[in-house]
Amino acid sequence: MLKGRSLIEPLDLSPEEMNELFVLAEEIEKNPKAWKSSLQGHILATLFFEPSTRTRLSFEAAMQRLGGSCLGFAESSSSSVSKGECLADTIRIVAGYSDIIVMRNPKEGAALVASRYSDIPVINAGDGGHHHPTQTLADLLTIKKLRGQIRDLTIGFCGDLRFGRTVHSLVEALTRYSGIKMIFISPPELTIPGYLKSGILTQKQISFKETDSLDKVMGDLDILYMTRVQKERFFNEEDYIRLKDSYVLTPEKMLAAKKDAMILHPLPRVNEISLEVDSDPRAMYFKQARQGMFIRMALLQSILGE
Ligand code: NCD
Repeated sequence: MLKGRSLIEPLDLSPEEMNELFVLAEEIEKNPKAWKSSLQGHILATLFFEPSTRTRLSFEAAMQRLGGSCLGFAESSSSSVSKGECLADTIRIVAGYSDIIVMRNPKEGAALVASRYSDIPVINAGDGGHHHPTQTLADLLTIKKLRGQIRDLTIGFCGDLRFGRTVHSLVEALTRYSGIKMIFISPPELTIPGYLKSGILTQKQISFKETDSLDKVMGDLDILYMTRVQKERFFNEEDYIRLKDSYVLTPEKMLAAKKDAMILHPLPRVNEISLEVDSDPRAMYFKQARQGMFIRMALLQSILGE
């Protein structure tokens, strides 16, 4: 049980707590009717200061499937933030109307700040290029379901590793499992941040290497985690245009992949996985998105439930 807790970064949850969430998510998926009114009377507020499809809608679907209800905004222009209200005031007000807040904000650290002003739990649905812990829960649950366990895997992260918050959160979470090797595939401008390399990866003696060639490492990967180049975090458009198509996964490239490899992507995809790859049995990104709803049901239930 995570009663009353906030979730700002993936390591806020212990490995045991994560495991309990995976078990509960599977239980809910198997028997959804048993949970259909477990959060009746509870209200979820979704405060999205940045665009979202999956995260916001899957949280709202999760809450409604548990019998609770939702309020919120999907863009800051429709809230008083556009009149100049500060985050602290918005949070204090919304905390008086609801039982839990899910927030996405373009500023790194915004979710932590929000949790300090809130007397109800806050879930970070993405703070700038920093963290996105519930995507990590969806990613890990997908790996666990499809592989049976999370261990002894070579995982390639490909694309925008500099600004991709889903990568940062998943890398941190994976450092707690044994036998994990990481390969970071990116153009030199978009490499994984130094604080992760010299911090947690080095401290925990996680085996990792960096390359700019997907082709060279494709055959070594058990999981390929593709990501979109994060247009909204670039300072100038020219750089984005130059880098956006650095990697495009095609059926030809898939020929070099292991027979039982898994292709994951947090979505949205822009151009980095060609549509023809969708019918490859190794393409798991749509399954991954659906797991996102069940893990969010498990999370809401654990924080708010009896
Ligand atoms: C991701 C995000 O918002 O960081 N989307 C998501 O929540 N699944 C990935 C992205 O936007 O590229």
